Amino acid sequence: MSKKDIFQKILKKPASVSVEEVAWVLEDDSLNEPLFEIADEVRNLYLGKDVYLRGIIEFSNYCRNDCLYCGIRSSNSKVSRYRMSVDEILNTAKFIAENGCGTVVLQSGEDPFYNDEMIAEIVHRIKKLDVAVTLSIGERSFKEYKTWREAGADRYLMRHETADEELYKQVHPADDFNIRKRHLEMLKQLDYEVGTGCIVGLPHQDDLSLAKDILFTYEFDSDMVGIGPFIPHPDTPLGKEKPGSLMKTLKVIALTRLFLPDSNIPATTALGTIDPRGRQLALNCGANVIMPNFTPVFYRPRFTIYPNKVCIFESDAQCRDSIKDLIETAGYKAVESQGFRRRVHENSSRRI
Ligand code: 5AD
Repeated sequence: MSKKDIFQKILKKPASVSVEEVAWVLEDDSLNEPLFEIADEVRNLYLGKDVYLRGIIEFSNYCRNDCLYCGIRSSNSKVSRYRMSVDEILNTAKFIAENGCGTVVLQSGEDPFYNDEMIAEIVHRIKKLDVAVTLSIGERSFKEYKTWREAGADRYLMRHETADEELYKQVHPADDFNIRKRHLEMLKQLDYEVGTGCIVGLPHQDDLSLAKDILFTYEFDSDMVGIGPFIPHPDTPLGKEKPGSLMKTLKVIALTRLFLPDSNIPATTALGTIDPRGRQLALNCGANVIMPNFTPVFYRPRFTIYPNKVCIFESDAQCRDSIKDLIETAGYKAVESQGFRRRVHENSSRRI
């Protein structure tokens, strides 16, 4: 098999592709150009030039977890912690809906202060704005997931972080990849659109680990996949490690697009942070979603999961306009729709 034939194999028989074959593409940079080209072709064929906007509110930076890479981990005592009130969250959501975003994403650290009823009330009231609602608030109970789904939540983002069990243990010492998988299964069972995803460039992560990430997102049939480079935060145990690479992250995005032609894949803020052109390049390599940050500017600098996040000091209007510019410059079109996954059925013939 010539090396380029691997792309046709992924498109036609994804279930037959091995971890080694995916790792093989990741390690060979002579394949980058054809990979990016075919990922863009697949994206255009299945999704056209549309880019969905998901306005994000980072409503609390309290977190009970202690992930080694994350700036808002519980043992980082330098973080100035905040919680937004229900009214502040609702006002921000209204602003998002008025600014052309069809989805409101509620993101926080794992913060049990917001109990099941509070989140249900917030979801219920945001749904009246005629937008899709995505929760990204970490691992909770099945009962809570169910209550929120019934309150109208449409989607749940919970990155799997890394599908390499050993590495998962290293960066989440108190946790286990199998627990994460069980939570993702619960969400799927409740008929949420479910988002997984990984960090690229964690210490000790190799191409085989990343290949496992890509196959995991395919096997789980993720509706959304968030992929971003590791950015060391100085106040964490991994603060002196190397950041993840732009090129490797783009390759993981492009390969994910080949495995999941109709999934929603964001051009992540972390990519825009390590390189000013990161998000445009991601759109050209298979990504089709952007998540503008609408956290009130007063709180925004405190949600520092990694340092120097883009859009930290811009006003909401500047942030919105710069993102629309970015999308148009890359050759795409920002759309206001709620942007659900438009599934192409397994048994319908693939067009590439
Ligand atoms: N670098 C890159 N991504 C990070 N995340 C957390 N900390 C970092 C970091 N230092 C990612 C995790 C999490 C998402 C919200 O942010 O993947 O799921």
